[in-house]
Amino acid sequence: MSASAGLIENQRIVLAAKPQGMPSESDFALVRGPVPHPGAGDVVVRCLWLSVDPYMRGLIDGVYPYVKQVLIGDTMRGGGVGRVVASNDPEFGVGDLVEGYLGWQLYSVLPGSELRQVNPALGPPSTAVGVLGMPGMTAYFGMTEIGEPKAGQTVVVSAAAGAVGSAAGQIARIRGCRVVGIAGSAEKVRHVVEDLGFDACIDYRAEPDLLAALRRHCPERINVYFDNVGGSIYDAVTSWMALDARIVICGSISEYNAQGLELGPRRLKQFEMWRARQQGFRVRDYAARYPEGIAVMAQWLTEGRLRYRETVSQGLASAPSAFIGLLQGRNVGKQLVKLAQDTSRVSRDDALGTTRRTPCKSEDVS
Ligand SMILES: NC(=O)c1ccc[n+]([C@@H]2O[C@H](COP(=O)([O-])OP(=O)(O)OC[C@H]3O[C@@H](n4cnc5c(N)ncnc54)[C@H](OP(=O)(O)O)[C@@H]3O)[C@@H](O)[C@H]2O)c1
Repeated sequence: MSASAGLIENQRIVLAAKPQGMPSESDFALVRGPVPHPGAGDVVVRCLWLSVDPYMRGLIDGVYPYVKQVLIGDTMRGGGVGRVVASNDPEFGVGDLVEGYLGWQLYSVLPGSELRQVNPALGPPSTAVGVLGMPGMTAYFGMTEIGEPKAGQTVVVSAAAGAVGSAAGQIARIRGCRVVGIAGSAEKVRHVVEDLGFDACIDYRAEPDLLAALRRHCPERINVYFDNVGGSIYDAVTSWMALDARIVICGSISEYNAQGLELGPRRLKQFEMWRARQQGFRVRDYAARYPEGIAVMAQWLTEGRLRYRETVSQGLASAPSAFIGLLQGRNVGKQLVKLAQDTSRVSRDDALGTTRRTPCKSEDVS
């Protein structure tokens, strides 16, 4: 142990009130206190990048049967990437770059068994919670294993400018498909087509008739739909399926703040007619295969075939507003909160030329 954790001040964001519908900043509070002393097997991590993700809304509502609900007074849970500052686990040394559920806080103390070593040669540290982390793996396994896109087929991806959608669409392009995105602004549409190389993209907020737009952009109907949003966009896409269509149920963000269940049109006849199937999945189902997915995605990044963008919010206090922004669609690409500058000499941010070529420009929204 090379740091006396109890002497360092921590800052955490806790849940202060249970949101009704869309969260507001007053639902969260920043609290200060000492970093707890690590026990046997524990590691102390200084978080560099906090990941902000839609599933956090479900954590507050307790929708996940396998994860503890975040209750009032609890530190908000979430993924992060950081540097080890003290360790009681021989698998981790001071300075190691690690990823895990660090929570919305500056320092985390957690068992080494809950951390993953990050290979800094594969990309900048932030990618460990982005394109080379959970969202990237969601796109990779969801698209390749559930969507099974085949060359020449038409693939539609919703939330196409987001962390998962942007990668999912590019993976289908790499597989030789025609890829049409759906996103929520003219700037997102431009980004998806011009920067990410989708064949087309529809602005669902500006398009009065989404089904008509899908018919125009997908003249041979839709073979694969990677659904990130559910709701009325799902209804439109499943009205224009091709024979043997595969619908990948990745997420349904349009419903995460709903108070009460909204029932849309039922499309069972369409599924019967077009012999379509839909399947939900959780990325954790593929946890054992992360090394395989990360290796493939890292190779595509190095080759410049896969690109990503990050929206960066500065400082822990900005996490609630970044989270609300994500739910409202303010982010382009992966939503991150930058907590600390990585001063480690082993940081590859500065050292690696190859990975720095692949990102699109970062946007700072702080
Ligand atoms: N199954 C799994 O294991 C797994 C793992 C990770 C993520 N997910 C799911 O994947 C989806 C994308 O996650 P992400 O982390 O990549 O987030 P993201 O796409 O980077 O950000 C969320 C985006 O959702 C869109 N959105 C918000 N409200 C919407 C609405 N009412 N209708 C349509 N679009 C809306 C916004 O983009 P627009 O401007 O385009 O509206 C927003 O930027 C989420 O549903 C998430 O829950 C699932």
